[in-house]
Amino acid sequence: PRILIMGAPGAGKGTQSANITDAFDVEHVTTGDALRSNDDMDISDLGLEYDTPRAYMDRGELVPDEVVNAIVEKALADAAGFVLDGYPRNMDQASELEDMTELDVVLSLEVSEDELIDRLTGRRVCADCGANYHVDFDPPETDGVCDECGGDLIQRDDDTEETVTDRLRVYHENTEPVIEYYAEQGRLERIDGEQTADAVWDDIRETIERAA
Ligand code: AP5
Ligand code: ZN
Repeated sequence: PRILIMGAPGAGKGTQSANITDAFDVEHVTTGDALRSNDDMDISDLGLEYDTPRAYMDRGELVPDEVVNAIVEKALADAAGFVLDGYPRNMDQASELEDMTELDVVLSLEVSEDELIDRLTGRRVCADCGANYHVDFDPPETDGVCDECGGDLIQRDDDTEETVTDRLRVYHENTEPVIEYYAEQGRLERIDGEQTADAVWDDIRETIERAA
């Protein structure tokens, strides 16, 4: 199936995308991870005024559409089934996506603002394999060490309280209209993202099985 997972920063898109790729035969297409692994990319040939992707990300701003559109177009061309995470983030990206592919399921993980802030400021990620943890909600067996691979757990540069506030503002201004747009088309599957991760996953799996 071709699945889109929407939701605010910290809503659990990455966590649930990992469950989706384990259970269904799909690729995880994520602009956030793609940008983080190319964060010093030279994008000056696009003729805008330039910064690296990292500079936008560290400010909590969106990276220019041209950059992310190209990433997604290439990734989707190579994938039969996918879970798309982190894109589209504004209406222009949503209309680009419409030219690239069709979607079978559009999920929206709904989580309150207070919970989002707790999740993001407490998140730790493995520097080696990218696995996600949380200092209170999902701690590793040994402090600071990845259960999966033994790598070091670090805090993302954009998970400081100040940048989290900016990311949430950008989300309200640019990305919420995209969610409304899918809702108006009657395509949005709203999921209560504030339950435990396992309960959220049960709801998502049922929704995908019903829709796909
Ligand atoms: P991106 O990497 O996409 O970050 P994000 O959307 O802000 O989302 P997060 O990864 O922070 O959260 P998530 O929803 O995946 O939650 P997670 O599962 O980790 O984007 C980063 C930046 O890249 C952007 O700011 C922008 O600059 C740029 N960018 C990316 N895409 C772009 C685009 N299309 N256009 C332009 N720029 C773009 O969970 C969070 C924490 O909560 C974890 O610690 C987890 O363990 C915990 N948790 C998860 N589920 C639960 C639960 N049910 N209960 C308790 N804890 C939970
Ligand atoms: Zn790891």
